[in-house]
Amino acid sequence: MNICFVGTGYVGLVSGVLFSDLGNTVYCVDNNSEKISKLKQGIVPIYEPGLEELVKKNYNAGRIIFTSNLSEAVRKSDIVFIAVGTPTSKDGLSADLHGVYEVAKSISNNLNSYKLIVTKSTVPLGTGDEVEKILLRKNKSNMFDVVSNPEFLREGEAIRDFKYPDRIIIGTNNSKKVSSVMEALYQPIIKKGGKFIVVQRRAAELIKYASNAFLATKITFINELANLCEKTGINIEDISLGIGTDARIGSRFLRAGPAYGGSCFPKDTKALTKTASKFDVSLNLVNSVIKSNESRSDLITSKILKILKKPKNKKIGFLGVTFKANTDDMRDSSSLKIIPKLIKKGCLISYYEPTGNKKILDKYKGVKNFSNIKDLANYSDLLIIHTEWDEFKSINFEKLTQNKKLQIFDLRNLYQPDAFLNKKIKYYSIGRPFNV
Ligand code: UDX
Repeated sequence: MNICFVGTGYVGLVSGVLFSDLGNTVYCVDNNSEKISKLKQGIVPIYEPGLEELVKKNYNAGRIIFTSNLSEAVRKSDIVFIAVGTPTSKDGLSADLHGVYEVAKSISNNLNSYKLIVTKSTVPLGTGDEVEKILLRKNKSNMFDVVSNPEFLREGEAIRDFKYPDRIIIGTNNSKKVSSVMEALYQPIIKKGGKFIVVQRRAAELIKYASNAFLATKITFINELANLCEKTGINIEDISLGIGTDARIGSRFLRAGPAYGGSCFPKDTKALTKTASKFDVSLNLVNSVIKSNESRSDLITSKILKILKKPKNKKIGFLGVTFKANTDDMRDSSSLKIIPKLIKKGCLISYYEPTGNKKILDKYKGVKNFSNIKDLANYSDLLIIHTEWDEFKSINFEKLTQNKKLQIFDLRNLYQPDAFLNKKIKYYSIGRPFNV
């Protein structure tokens, strides 16, 4: 099939490259010509394990075409995916849909044959209806169908998530015609066990937000229980195991940590409550989740201050600053909330980040970037394990720091407290007895 992806951000690039890997001809369009020329040279603008190799392989095989010529790409394609960003608007809550509608207008000018127009961007319910209206201004209804096909890729796991998804959601108001084309496109993935689910278009749009809000709720629930565990001498992992083995609950997304972040959960939970309020519905639970997650950085900071006792001029070293492992993404990372609070208290911040220096941290005067764990550990009074990178999981801290007096606050519970018993290193973690 000939496919076009408009937008070579995270979702567009990963999906476009992987559809080309399945044998389709894929036009990846972006109005950022610098990005396009880099992609043609095999330079991938995001950190995603395995992606660069797939870009090179499929580009060299001629299955993927990087271009800024949207008209030509649309005209040559049977299916056009809209995969542009939908960041939070100035109101701080709703999704900004300007990009989506602009792309819809451009597609509208280039409908030279019947096409499926598929929104992959995360868009609030009703967006497909608006896209359809835009297309109808210039085209007959038999020239296109507007479909919702939301994305469930996790950063760092995107290739696996694309190849082996739990489900493929197709939202259409014309299911007979649309589902056979989309089923053919996804056939290699369906064959491997991905459930193919066809629903109304608005339902598909809501499924995406509902999934992210539910997962955010699950994480927030376990984070709040972790607070209770700390005060009652219980280990949060026992709770995660004990409740997660109930198939109705499920064991995933029950890891307590510093608060959820990233490009999706914070943005999508807010956009969902905004959409609901437009329909006069109050999503009290989701509102509480947002509030609880936002206040978690205060809680973590107060624990750090407790550990430090006298924070002024104490050296705090962060192991990892991104919002989770296997990504270079800093968007809504809890480190961005905790670091300024610690600076205000007079702490001296440094970090080691496997994906290198983070520009966004350069704005804080005095924040140091170390190029290896050993130097950071030897420099710091308190090490904060902020991100769960594999390379942080089996460090011999004693050997590394030659038994210096060190404190560790493990926000991802990568270690067992027993390992530090009777050692010079003092170890603190999340959702386990917290005795300072
Ligand atoms: C998420 C969704 O999982 C994905 O389906 C959607 O398409 C985009 O948003 P992503 O943001 O890449 O993916 O990361 P994810 O692995 O879901 O983690 C999100 C946040 O939750 C991270 O900050 C992570 O550290 C945190 N998290 C996750 C926990 O604190 N505990 C957990 O058990 C799981």
